[in-house]
Amino acid sequence: MDKMKIIGGKKLNGEVSAGGAKNAALPILFSTLLADGEHVFTNVPDLRDIKSAMLLLDSFGCETHFANNTLKVKVNKIKTIEAHYDLVRKMRASILCLGPLLARHKKAKVSLPGGCAIGSRPINYHLDALTLLKTEHRIESGYVVAETTGLVGDRVIFDMPSVGATENIMMAASLAKGVTIIENAAKEPEIVDLADYLIKMGANIEGAGTSIIKITGVDSLSPAEHSIIPDRIEAGTLLIAGAITGGSVKVNNCDPTHIEALIAKMRESGFNIEAGADFVSVTETSNWKAIDVTTAPHPAFPTDLQAQYMVLMTQAEGSSIVTETIFENRFMHVQELLRMGAELSPKTRVCIVRGKKGGLNGAPVMATDLRASASLVLAGLVAEGETVVNRIYHLDRGYEKLEDKLSNLGASIQRIE
Ligand code: UD1
Repeated sequence: MDKMKIIGGKKLNGEVSAGGAKNAALPILFSTLLADGEHVFTNVPDLRDIKSAMLLLDSFGCETHFANNTLKVKVNKIKTIEAHYDLVRKMRASILCLGPLLARHKKAKVSLPGGCAIGSRPINYHLDALTLLKTEHRIESGYVVAETTGLVGDRVIFDMPSVGATENIMMAASLAKGVTIIENAAKEPEIVDLADYLIKMGANIEGAGTSIIKITGVDSLSPAEHSIIPDRIEAGTLLIAGAITGGSVKVNNCDPTHIEALIAKMRESGFNIEAGADFVSVTETSNWKAIDVTTAPHPAFPTDLQAQYMVLMTQAEGSSIVTETIFENRFMHVQELLRMGAELSPKTRVCIVRGKKGGLNGAPVMATDLRASASLVLAGLVAEGETVVNRIYHLDRGYEKLEDKLSNLGASIQRIE
């Protein structure tokens, strides 16, 4: 199993580019099931999760081809409507094939994803909303078995703005009869990117990016071409990498409007951040203040940057409070950071961070989930001595060649196979 070895203490300097957004690419890949023919996507990141999505599409009988960050999906006659446990358990986002399969084939059998390191992650919003759209489902041997005589639009109100549920329903409703209104919809940029692709395919969608989305069903959709938006979480992670080492780093190919909450917190903390149309940069800062953060749905501070921000705060002047409101168990990195000497007091959803410049020591640590892995790499960049991050297959799910990007900026980081 690959590990990442980091020798801390190197200032990062220079320019780096963010890749395409994993969380935009995944739903868009599953949306291909809505239209036969060849779909072409550029700026697709080369990641394990993308490979998992390709395997799932292949298992349905689609033909996928990936080279140089371009992914082609040819959708033919479907072989099966079953998403097998072995594929779904590797990537929870596989549940996003449920809406498209039902819309197109009127039935679907999709493995329940099960729990994961960051919380229970139920799919009740997806299922309740599909029921409103005239689907019947039952749970059988760990699978959701769903059927419809034809989806019919309705008014769906989510208890909480769920990204995945908004995406699943937006895809299903695109081919449903009549109008679907999603209220309390998620507003993440990835929702907007999916809507943009669905609209290119011929869907009628208004309001994506706001809390009310109106989808008027159409009879059929056709494949199209699309460039995936940049990954805001990768961009934010790279920005923090530059900041935490006291370096000057410019992240190109990103959209700073997608990480305004992070930029605002970092500016408040004392960093000099410049944001242009497609870049964001941080300039050398030696002292920064502790600033509290609370994660919440977009446009508030993203849960996917919470672990990385916490590491930044371990080096700040003073104490800060990090509050996680999205997932109930998203402090898995805390135990590992404690082993590196961080002063953290975790409670259920709140963690007090006592900042101390240079307070981290290198240690062997264990990655537990995708974003926790990234935070451990960041900690390794400023820790004294050697940090070895184990189980970095988590990192490979969501960061393309992170070690190359960081070493090009001057980090001492190496993958050990
Ligand atoms: C997506 C992202 C993930 C990010 C998360 C929150 C992808 C592939 N993943 O995950 O990186 O951390 O958004 O920004 O895009 N919930 C329910 N019932 C449901 C659905 C959700 O209770 O049916 C709860 C979840 O447990 C969680 C909250 O709603 O507490 C938000 O989850 P959701 O937005 O659905 O996250 P994902 O789409 O799974």
